[in-house]
Amino acid sequence: MLLHDLIGLSGLLFPLLAVATKGSTGCNSVHPPLVIPGEPSQAIRFLTAHGGKRSFNLHIPAAYQAKEPVPLILAFHGKNQAPTTFENETQLSNPAFNDEAIVAFPQGVKEQWTGDPAAPPLSQVNDLLYTSDLLDYLQATHCIDLDRIYAYGFSNGGGLVDLLACNANLAPRIAAFAATSAAVYQDKALKEPLFSLCPSRESPVPFLTFHGTSDPVIDYDGYRTSDGPSWPVQNRMQGWAERNGCPNGAENSTIQLFGGKVQKYSWTCDDFEDVVVHYRIEGFGHGVPTTTPLDNDGQRYGPTFFNATPIVMDFFRAWPLPEPLPELSQDTRDEL
Ligand SMILES: *[C@@H]1O[C@H](CO)[C@@H](O)[C@H](O)[C@H]1NC(C)=O
Ligand SMILES: *[C@@H]1O[C@H](CO)[C@@H](O)[C@H](O)[C@H]1NC(C)=O
Repeated sequence: MLLHDLIGLSGLLFPLLAVATKGSTGCNSVHPPLVIPGEPSQAIRFLTAHGGKRSFNLHIPAAYQAKEPVPLILAFHGKNQAPTTFENETQLSNPAFNDEAIVAFPQGVKEQWTGDPAAPPLSQVNDLLYTSDLLDYLQATHCIDLDRIYAYGFSNGGGLVDLLACNANLAPRIAAFAATSAAVYQDKALKEPLFSLCPSRESPVPFLTFHGTSDPVIDYDGYRTSDGPSWPVQNRMQGWAERNGCPNGAENSTIQLFGGKVQKYSWTCDDFEDVVVHYRIEGFGHGVPTTTPLDNDGQRYGPTFFNATPIVMDFFRAWPLPEPLPELSQDTRDEL
């Protein structure tokens, strides 16, 4: 009761304090964090604006102060995975890997996302709207740095990240994108065209990906992907380079790592240095690159040469959203 009164009172007395311009509306509220800071994630259910309740898991870093804007990472699990599996594999709620960003681990309906051949059409389950509702909810309840919202996903979740980066309404809200073993399907594998519709936003659209050359689920070259043809990784990366202002067929700069077993390809487009980066991992299967064993080592073909998460975090740190925000026409807003 006393706590409640204090919260109400401080809300009245200090409405003008400590509002950073890039902070979300949640910086003005005295809303307590939805979960205990510093703990592994906990599941939250919320009422979406576009129909029904959906869930996600939330991790708040120990140092979170409700009035200091912090980055937010949306971390999308793979198909048939729980949000906590991706949390465990990425270690995104381990302070050794991430001590600054709030991490939301969204939960797909029936553990899958828009973009999978088996997923219902957008008219039934629209994970783009879910993501935008989730961002609205998190921005209203927590103090989020609006220039540092990021998305990272695995497999089907990585495909959704690609769709977010393509979406004219969502892409302007997300500063940079990362995916491992992303499931990016060609139209003929899907119930409706998705990945071919990629208007995106003004560049830069920073994009970082990892993919194993032996991926048994989402074939590196696309042809042997069992649920239908997926985009060859090379085409998709070149597409992102072009959307970032590089000419058609632009050369990447290649760095050989780990005795040539890992190739790091990066593109500098329109003076945006290394705005598109891809790690091609020789012999790696389907999963999150880590040096330690994981539960899905059957599909991953075991640990690999490096941990992806620190590379993802460095990439995100390098790419806050540029100011001013790209303008959106009313037309594109309505398209979502
Ligand atoms: C990057 O450049 C190298 C060398 O020209 C080329 O072999 C490779 O296919 C390119 N990678 C992609 C993803 O375009
Ligand atoms: C995280 O993954 C490791 C390796 O697969 C496993 O041993 C551990 O039990 C998992 N931890 C949680 C909390 O799921």
